[in-house]
Amino acid sequence: MSETARLILDGKEYEFPVVTGSENEKAIDISKLRATTGYITLDYGFKNTGSTQSAITYLDGENGILRYRGYTIEELAEKASFLEVSFLLIYGELPNQKELDYFQGSITHHTLVHENMKSFFEAFPPGAHPMGMLSSMISSLSTFYKDSQNPNRSIEDIEKTIHRLIAKLPTLAAQAYKHNMGHPTVYPSNDLGYCGNFLNMMFALPTEDYTVDPVVESALNKLLILHADHEQNCSASTVRIVGSSQANLYSSISAGIAALWGPLHGGANQAVIEMLESIKDDGGNLQKWIDKAKDKTDSFRLMGFGHRVYKNFDPRAKIIKKAADEVLEKLGVNDPVLDIAKQLEEVALNDPYFVERGLYPNVDFYSGIIYRALNIPTDMFTVMFALGRLSGWIAQWKEMHENNEPIGRPRQIYTGATVRSYAPIESRD
Ligand code: ACO
Repeated sequence: MSETARLILDGKEYEFPVVTGSENEKAIDISKLRATTGYITLDYGFKNTGSTQSAITYLDGENGILRYRGYTIEELAEKASFLEVSFLLIYGELPNQKELDYFQGSITHHTLVHENMKSFFEAFPPGAHPMGMLSSMISSLSTFYKDSQNPNRSIEDIEKTIHRLIAKLPTLAAQAYKHNMGHPTVYPSNDLGYCGNFLNMMFALPTEDYTVDPVVESALNKLLILHADHEQNCSASTVRIVGSSQANLYSSISAGIAALWGPLHGGANQAVIEMLESIKDDGGNLQKWIDKAKDKTDSFRLMGFGHRVYKNFDPRAKIIKKAADEVLEKLGVNDPVLDIAKQLEEVALNDPYFVERGLYPNVDFYSGIIYRALNIPTDMFTVMFALGRLSGWIAQWKEMHENNEPIGRPRQIYTGATVRSYAPIESRD
């Protein structure tokens, strides 16, 4: 007999089906709750709400497990290329050689962006945040590919949009960086791999030779894989909810970029380095900053600590920490900010406030340290996150689209004024 949950409301008993996932996760299916009882559920921040059933990513926050389509993040980060992982997330299986050659080839041939887009960059003020530029640029891509706006587009059209997005996001990200530097744009190179091409567009200059360092390329590949998906997080949920209105894929991804930008989500990687620099400039008194983070009257939080789902450890942080050590050693980087990070980690991990609340360093705590070592400027860190997360957003959007999920439209409990009459202005206090 299938499991059910019983709910007693106003003396009446109702039954709701229990849904069990492939890893034995349980949910009470309340989709008929309002229709049968007149009640809705209230769940700020959706802390207990499953918005969908998904076959993409499995995450066990208590045990620090993260798997894409059944493969552990540890194995993928060690053995796979980012494009292989993107294929896996989007299409459900690892590609065979023929499929990978086609996917890689198609992405390599869609890397150029329309020359008119240069004039958009020219209009941004100096020092414009690259996340703001990127979100606008991705949204504007839909205006160049009008077919993408048709909600009844064919599978082939959707495929082309997916390949264009994966191909063009690095081009636009590097252009945003070059715009801020005041340097000329470097065009994509078809003879470089996905990560190598991005690094070349970022760092090559007309005045000197640039060769992609294999240590840097491999670190970037790992970082992109570790960031590629994280089930129904803030930005993925945003992408799904925007897409549920049948908005085109470019606009949905643009909204995901905007959601990622916030310092409580992907923007934390920028905030971590800024915080570490402030601690250093302030004389390195760690206890002062720990006390600030614990003080409920102070809005300061230790950036890069804590996670909505991981209350034990973040498996991505473990891999990135090891990668950070390797990269810094191989590149011979000696960074005082890293010393502050190490000390802060130790103090926080031994403080009962952080231990009791399950606040551990998350992926963003260490990723910024590697990006710094790779010479990526701080305001580009969240862009780097977006480059990795793009394939997850696409996979989430595609799954939502293929499942014909209904438009996302939560309910509310209204707490405002009850009905009242319009009063003429002269009679108001
Ligand atoms: N510093 C100090 N205290 C914290 C921190 C922190 N970084 N994070 C949580 N807490 C405290 C809260 O004040 C709260 O304390 P209380 O129980 O005494 O009221 C308790 O820990 C639980 O925190 P919530 O905010 O309820 O946890 P939630 O799951 O809503 O938030 C979040 C998770 C947003 C990640 C939070 O830990 C945070 O703000 N961290 C800093 C920002 C950050 O690093 N974000 C990146 C997350 S990873 C990612 O998105 C890729």
